[in-house]
Amino acid sequence: MNRRYRKTVIAGNWKLHKTIAETKAFSEALKAKMERPRWCETVLCVPYVNIPSAVRAFRDTRVAIGAQDVSCEKEGPYTGEVSAEMLKEAGAKYVIVGHSERRRRYGETDLLVGRKVQAALDAGLSPIICVGETLDEREKEITAERITVQVKAALADVSVTALRRVIIAYEPVWAIGTGHTASVEYAGEIGTHIRTVLRRKYGARAARSVSILYGGSMNEENAAALLACPDVDGGLIGVASLDADRFWAIVEAARPAPVDDTPPPKPRLSHEENE
Ligand code: PGA
Repeated sequence: MNRRYRKTVIAGNWKLHKTIAETKAFSEALKAKMERPRWCETVLCVPYVNIPSAVRAFRDTRVAIGAQDVSCEKEGPYTGEVSAEMLKEAGAKYVIVGHSERRRRYGETDLLVGRKVQAALDAGLSPIICVGETLDEREKEITAERITVQVKAALADVSVTALRRVIIAYEPVWAIGTGHTASVEYAGEIGTHIRTVLRRKYGARAARSVSILYGGSMNEENAAALLACPDVDGGLIGVASLDADRFWAIVEAARPAPVDDTPPPKPRLSHEENE
């Protein structure tokens, strides 16, 4: 994390979990333990139909609500789609775009991801853009190239001004939902690679203000170590975000260490030592 230049973001991705009643129960459990976490942006990306009730449940807290996908279209004959404008109106502030489950299971291409990012930004949402290599790509040692292509495609039409609202989540596909977290060194290295890609396109100043999250079996035990990397500015958390205690523990892991303001002990004079 580098709190000087960019915000820390802890985002839960609930995927296909939780009914409206379960969302309410979760919000009560989380609110019971939550002080206002001023040290990070806390986000829950919930199923579409839960958005209005989640927004209501977290109204007086610092938890923002997000969606898990968005249409690239504004309106028209697109059965089953939900537009960015609709999400915004329902109270969402964030939206996950290009999650590997959508790329893999629903055939989302890099090009489509780019269009969805643009749709989200046009409506005033912050896209959380997911990029990451498969196990096969990792074994072929083409991780960096693959990520470069994904980042460039997702940001193809994004201006330097709009970049301020963009969040990137590095999620190695082999680490998602598997319990196999990337090592701290590996996650940190790819985070830095992503920032280099941003720097080449937008310059150092704009690039340093983008929050880059890690996702893939992040949990309350490994969060603090991952967040200590300079280019890991938060997490996108699946399984561990479904339980209020576990999710809160990760938000706590992002809390800065308290500043020790007790005055240093007075140096003892040599004659005192002899007394
Ligand atoms: P996981 O999921 O934490 O369960 O691995 C992360 C994600 O898919 O965003």
